[in-house]
Amino acid sequence: MIFKSHKLLVEHLKKKVKSSETISFVPTMGALHNGHISLMKEAISQCDHLVVSIFVNPTQFDNKKDLEKYPRTVNNDVALIKKHINTHKLTVYAPEVKDVYGKQTVAKTYHYDGLENVMEGKNRPGHFDGVGTILEFLFAVVQPDKAFFGEKDFQQLQIVNKLVEKLQLNIEVIGCPIEREPHGLAMSSRNERLSPKAREKAQFIYATLQLAKKYFKHHSIKNTQKLVEELFKKEPDFELEYFTIASEETLNPVTRKYKKHHYRAFIVAHLEGVRLIDNLKLSDL
Ligand code: PAF
Repeated sequence: MIFKSHKLLVEHLKKKVKSSETISFVPTMGALHNGHISLMKEAISQCDHLVVSIFVNPTQFDNKKDLEKYPRTVNNDVALIKKHINTHKLTVYAPEVKDVYGKQTVAKTYHYDGLENVMEGKNRPGHFDGVGTILEFLFAVVQPDKAFFGEKDFQQLQIVNKLVEKLQLNIEVIGCPIEREPHGLAMSSRNERLSPKAREKAQFIYATLQLAKKYFKHHSIKNTQKLVEELFKKEPDFELEYFTIASEETLNPVTRKYKKHHYRAFIVAHLEGVRLIDNLKLSDL
């Protein structure tokens, strides 16, 4: 079933809870691809009923043009979900902005113990306030047992964990591995905006991450950083926004290797005006 009204959705889901069905939740902004579908398959394998939201959340865009350009393809999205998920076990919530925000489309302010001050938080001011606002709303409406997020937005995943902890919600947040196109590009709704040639070229991002991972094993963080920056200099079609090696727990950039820490490399690069994001776990030391 598809709902546009959160009030009706709440009534519908109450019946599920009454009959002791467990609920998993996959929030999305639509323009769905196989990465989303794999999240949904995992989600329905772990619960009795799946709720998917499709909503392009205006308050998480720091760039108006990006918001305008964001693809809105609800009918195709629903058709794609139905191809893969048993409709008896599926509820879709696809609201208009008004149903979520009422008269004022504004974000609340959140503090995520500093997780919001680096990388995406630093480069996209207000982004994680917008993400927090929409997820607090959606979690309250859906009241899922489990919520599923892709590791492509690893910082977002850690922020959601923090949000759930701070709001003391009884929701298990589950991170799922990045789905990739055959040549390695992380699946993303934004890939659709690349020309076929650029889409092929974009594999350079993942290839660089893999190279950085190998190099990191025997070299310093500073030199790994340098290697990546130099590789990008040789590829004028790309503009490197950032490459950061950070602690998985705090997301703080690290400049020295410490034992027993978990590190991850994060990258954002622009190609044909499209902002592409990816990350890769580095070896634990
Ligand atoms: O990752 C996304 O698609 C969005 O940030 C989310 C979690 C659906 C919130 O709008």
